[in-house]
Amino acid sequence: MIAIFAGLAPRFAQVEAIMTRALASEEPRVQALIDQLGSFHGKMLRPALVLLVAEALGPVSADHVRLGAALEMIHTATLIHDDMIDEAATRRGQPTAHVEHGTSIAVLLGDYFYTHAFALVADLEQRWVFPRLTRTTNVICRGELHQMCARRDLALTEAEYDRIIHAKTAALCELAGELGALTAEAPVRAAAAAFGISCGMAFQIVDDCLDFSGDAQKVGKTLATDIERGRLTLPLIRMLAKASPARRDALGRQLLDTRTPEDVARLRQIVLDSGAIPDAIATARVHVADAHRHLAGLPAGPARDRLGDLADFIVSRDF
Ligand code: IPE
Ligand code: IPE
Ligand code: MG
Ligand code: MG
Repeated sequence: MIAIFAGLAPRFAQVEAIMTRALASEEPRVQALIDQLGSFHGKMLRPALVLLVAEALGPVSADHVRLGAALEMIHTATLIHDDMIDEAATRRGQPTAHVEHGTSIAVLLGDYFYTHAFALVADLEQRWVFPRLTRTTNVICRGELHQMCARRDLALTEAEYDRIIHAKTAALCELAGELGALTAEAPVRAAAAAFGISCGMAFQIVDDCLDFSGDAQKVGKTLATDIERGRLTLPLIRMLAKASPARRDALGRQLLDTRTPEDVARLRQIVLDSGAIPDAIATARVHVADAHRHLAGLPAGPARDRLGDLADFIVSRDF
């Protein structure tokens, strides 16, 4: 577990118990498959956001824990499908679902996680949560679709990249902040949501950097899938923007032709040598500074301090 989340251990255990219960099946063959998956969660960033915001505002309720579980299940569903699309072999230090069980099971497992997440919030007292969760899930799917439609297109601008990562990643973090402030007044809820967006933007930019510079063992997942799949992320966009027109043409051709592992390794090295990673990380830091500013909308105290630590962790992490 991430050190700054140590105080959340008992709550995380409750989140895990809810996920295990929600995904349980009375059909032994299905239950055997679920058992084989082992743990259903990763770093628990989204539940941590819900729980720490909730803690900053008052007592953490059973609803907060349930919402944390629902968001982690939505997130896991997106990853099961994302890994299949990316043909990634490893996730959370384990073989991915599609490698272990085949693509048919992986499609259905993703659906199983999504639908059980919705079921968890369907009868919540705050009726606005259910439509809010479905809308956010829709935005994530749109972001993933948008990214697919933009692959290998050198005309992708930084503004469009921002819209993609806002949809596929920051929207769920926004919802996590908002749901932590479930029962708070509108301005506080807005501050918590804005904090979530800034964290989510920074988080995806750092993830996109780690795809080039990370240690696969530490990160626990298959890396360099972005160049392999022809996805232009911030480091590449920055590198292309800084290159001379002739160099940009050459790099662009190279990017479009990236197919073999040798092509991927070559392009990866060019990006690392170009200084584009620290450049992109500097932008992630700007989002983290925004996140800290939004925290001013929450009451001061230890939980708010932990949220500040969480924001800082996002840009300092190497996993
Ligand atoms: C990975 O998210 C996908 C992105 C949005 C970048 P995490 O890095 O939070 O994945 P887990 O849940 O910890 O495995
Ligand atoms: C995040 O993007 C995926 C979703 C939000 C579904 P990535 O494709 O970069 O995530 P990783 O790197 O595979 O974890
Ligand atoms: Mg991926
Ligand atoms: Mg990634």
